[in-house]
Amino acid sequence: MTNAQKWVALFLGLFLVLFLLGRLTREKEDQMPHVMGLMGEQPDQKSADADGLTLIKQIGCVSCHGDNLGGSKLGPALADLKQFWSRDALINYLRNPQSYSRDERFDRYRAKYRNVIMPSYGNIDVKELGKIAEYLLTR
Ligand code: HEC
Repeated sequence: MTNAQKWVALFLGLFLVLFLLGRLTREKEDQMPHVMGLMGEQPDQKSADADGLTLIKQIGCVSCHGDNLGGSKLGPALADLKQFWSRDALINYLRNPQSYSRDERFDRYRAKYRNVIMPSYGNIDVKELGKIAEYLLTR
């Protein structure tokens, strides 16, 4: 190799190293919003720590199911749910109540609360729905 060739090889090598470094750091930046997103979720996790009853009041279930979930003109009492639901089934129900119509209890509800629709809560964090389900199953 002539001296000139050595210089060219050196610059090419240097260019390659810088190029790779640039890519590496860019990938790190790409990951940053992800990390930020995770950090941003912390307040949410806090509200998921709120207990089921607090969430039930915040979300407004009580406006139909009554102050102590004892029922009202707009919705049935939420009592003894553990004989009907598992935790997972209850979470699924809350996410999509309209998909559920399997027993005569619900036929009765539909007849009694004819103009009221149990809203779907698919927009609420599953962790929060879990807290709500846990609360409903222990009361
Ligand atoms: C707009 C009124 C309304 C609101 C708000 C509401 N519900 Fe309901 N809910 C109903 C009605 C009416 C039914 C009876 C089922 C039906 O008609 O589909 C029902 C049924 C239920 C059932 C089934 C009861 C059973 O016997 O198995 C559960 C559980 C339930 N609601 C929980 C909740 C929770 C938890 C919230 C708040 C996150 C909530 N509901 C908010 C009206 C409401």
